[in-house]
Amino acid sequence: MKVCVIGTGYVGLVTGVCLAHTGHHVICIDNNEEKVKMMKAGQSPIYEPGLAELMQSTTKAALLEFSSDLGYGVEHGDILFIAVGTPPLPTGESDTRYVEAVARGIGAHLNQGYKVIVNKSTVPIGSGDWVRRIVLDGVDERQKEGGSLITAEFDIVSNPEFLREGSAIYDTFNPDRIVLGGNNPKALQLMQELYAPIVERRFAEDKSARPVDVVTTDLSSAEMIKYAANSFLATKISFINEIANICDRVGADVTQVARGIGLDSRIGSKFLNAGIGWGGSCFPKDVSALVHTADDYNYDAKLLKATIEVNTHQRLIAVEKLQQVLKILKGKTIGLLGLTFKPDTDDLRDAPALNIIENLNRLGAKVKAYDPIISQSGMRHGLSGVLVETDPERLADGCDALVLITEWEQFQKLQYSKMAKLMANPVFIDGRNYCDRTLLESAGFQYVGIGH
Ligand code: NAD
Ligand code: UGA
Repeated sequence: MKVCVIGTGYVGLVTGVCLAHTGHHVICIDNNEEKVKMMKAGQSPIYEPGLAELMQSTTKAALLEFSSDLGYGVEHGDILFIAVGTPPLPTGESDTRYVEAVARGIGAHLNQGYKVIVNKSTVPIGSGDWVRRIVLDGVDERQKEGGSLITAEFDIVSNPEFLREGSAIYDTFNPDRIVLGGNNPKALQLMQELYAPIVERRFAEDKSARPVDVVTTDLSSAEMIKYAANSFLATKISFINEIANICDRVGADVTQVARGIGLDSRIGSKFLNAGIGWGGSCFPKDVSALVHTADDYNYDAKLLKATIEVNTHQRLIAVEKLQQVLKILKGKTIGLLGLTFKPDTDDLRDAPALNIIENLNRLGAKVKAYDPIISQSGMRHGLSGVLVETDPERLADGCDALVLITEWEQFQKLQYSKMAKLMANPVFIDGRNYCDRTLLESAGFQYVGIGH
């Protein structure tokens, strides 16, 4: 099928590349010329395992193209994905101006023939109908400006995305479900055809697994499913973090507790890792946006507010632990292992590390960090008050404590004995309960976990 994906960020680029890999002809559009230039040269503008390789092979097979010309993409695609960012506004609601610009642009370029316009971006509930109106406004504006007269034939479908950064390609080919919201069966049928190779597990790790569940709903329910899923997961993490804080006080071990409750199939073992809290470009903004929507409809979303409140506190738990061990932080040097909000990504958006750095600076500590991707890429966007070191041993040199922020796999096997000897004070705060306490202690560290 002919597909156009508008917005080539963490979601749009992965979606475009994966759909091309399944055999569709995809044009990816971005208004950032720099990015388009990079992608045309076969380079991925983001770090996502396996993405650059798949980008190159699909481009070579003539199934994937990049352009900054929206008109070219709209003309090509029978299915047009909107995958631009919806970042948070200071009020907590989503900033939908990029979606609006794209919808208007689609309207201005609609040509003859039926199109399905897909909201892949996470958009406030009710956005499906709003996008339809903006597209029609775009059509009207073009006609007022003397453009050719067309009868715009299109439908809107909400197709929320559930991929995780760091495993985005795996998640796309091995989804738990695909959600399609819309009013016209014709549009939903086309979407089912588009996703057939994925639904039938032709690109899955386990090709014999039963087909992927496709959940078809009305527009608003599909939009709500996205917010409800992220809010549930964030609440689950805040819940286990609260249990960890109680464990710390009563002397229980949250990792054992998480195993003990997670084996109950009604609870499930995933997303029960206690630590320094959830971050990233989606959980924080999506939970806040749902609270804001509820507020608009005169509902006080108390549980969601508590989920956020627990997380805000949890982000500083590592600083509290440093104070308990080192007492005065003024003049001390703290080394952070990891900066990104989770491993296997270069994404620093709303990363807990940013709050920790800010607070350590406020308390007068010097902060250094080593992150496998950020240290190599030279990417420092959004980072201040921290010296980024080029390797773990340089990081350890002279530190009064190390804090594990991100559970990058390589952090389980660093030269910890050597690092402990380079430190002024070998303290290790494991912000993700990720490393082996015995190994760290035998390397000479005082090990402090979260909730155990
Ligand atoms: P992003 O910021 O990484 O990418 C957005 C891209 O859109 C950028 O490349 C930008 O240049 C481009 N863009 C902006 N305006 C444009 C325009 N007018 N025309 C063409 N391109 C334009 O965003 P993202 O992380 O990929 O998120 C996109 C959406 O998907 C958001 O709504 C987000 O909530 C949702 N989402 C993200 C994830 C994730 O893991 N990041 C997962 C699920 C859903
Ligand atoms: C999350 C969801 O998992 C995806 O389904 C969704 O598509 C995406 O948000 C989105 O809407 O953008 P992502 O943010 O990439 O994906 O990463 P997660 O693996 O969910 O982790 C989010 C945060 O929670 C990270 O900071 C992580 O460290 C933290 N986390 C996760 C925990 O603290 N404990 C856990 O047990 C799991």
